[in-house]
Amino acid sequence: MQAKNTRGRLAALMVFSFLSLAVNSPARADGPQPPPVPPVPPPSTAPVAPATPAPADSLAWDAVMKDMDAKPGQMSADFFFSVTNVSTSDVVIDHVQTSCGCTVAKLPSQPWVLKPQDNGKINVTVDLHGKPVGTLFKTVTVFFTNQTTKPLTVKVTIPDNPENARMRNQQMALGDRQKVFKDDCAKCHAEPTHGKTGKDLYAAACGICHDAEHRATMVPNLHALNHSTDRIYWKQWITTGKVGTAMPAFSTEQGGPLSTEQIDSLADYLDTTIPHNPAPAPTAQLHPKVDAAPAPVAVPPQVIK
Ligand code: HEC
Ligand code: HEC
Repeated sequence: MQAKNTRGRLAALMVFSFLSLAVNSPARADGPQPPPVPPVPPPSTAPVAPATPAPADSLAWDAVMKDMDAKPGQMSADFFFSVTNVSTSDVVIDHVQTSCGCTVAKLPSQPWVLKPQDNGKINVTVDLHGKPVGTLFKTVTVFFTNQTTKPLTVKVTIPDNPENARMRNQQMALGDRQKVFKDDCAKCHAEPTHGKTGKDLYAAACGICHDAEHRATMVPNLHALNHSTDRIYWKQWITTGKVGTAMPAFSTEQGGPLSTEQIDSLADYLDTTIPHNPAPAPTAQLHPKVDAAPAPVAVPPQVIK
């Protein structure tokens, strides 16, 4: 009983001292009485456990901030950050964290082990759906060896959607048809008319709306009107426009930018270039209410052969 107990204690003591020797021996190798080693938290997922902590500068980044001007209607912005392990030990990028659900950062693998001199990319995608006009910043935090973190930033500038801007302009013009000659609008709708007459004036003052490549539906095509025209008609429309529509009054008396001479030059130009009677274009024939002008006799009925 006694003997067995002693042997048992002895065995336990031997196992214990073997263990403590095994645990302490690497520290002892350097010299006598090292200060107590603080407990190192076990690396959570890392398959490799580097002996040295990875300081923040063990990784070299191509940039810590990247920016992009989104195009109108662009729905996502893609970035990548290139990173190189410039230290002499392995660095483990454990995971990345983003500042909002709209931003996704992808590692080549997780965890991602970078051997010395290894390099690779972290892809970052920002979802732009519903993002307001302006500049947005998103942060991606990279967590690597020994709980070191590195923040990366992406900056996206979202332009005003041109369709929105156009709608706003149309609304403003419908509220005040002379608005086009005021404030910022004047830069495109009034200033280009200064000092011009005739054809050039037409392009600057009228063509901007009436001959636009994607003409708004509210703006009629002056080259395909379904009624007759004459010089008085043109002069009248240019001078006074039409209340309650986006057709402005161009005469200076009514707040427009054009002198009487300029308006006369326009009326002359339009009266000589646009046929007085509508061309027999199919669109003109389709409208039943064309009767402002007497139907031109030159058009033979083509229906019955
Ligand atoms: C940068 C030049 C520019 C400025 C500034 C500008 N416009 Fe225009 N506007 C245009 C052009 C070009 C068109 C022809 C349609 C197009 O291409 O968008 C147009 C067309 C229009 C039309 C015809 C309807 C349409 O959408 O085509 C209206 C009405 C109008 N503008 C009102 C305004 C008002 C009001 C402002 C100021 C709040 C303004 N615009 C400022 C260039 C400009
Ligand atoms: C800001 C855009 C804008 C500009 C600039 C503009 N117009 Fe207009 N115009 C309109 C709109 C919108 C209408 C349709 C009005 C309506 O609803 O009846 C119109 C209608 C007209 C009409 C009537 C067409 C018809 O249906 O009989 C004439 C004529 C006309 N414009 C001539 C001109 C001339 C000439 C100029 C240049 C001096 C000019 N417009 C400049 C927007 C514009």
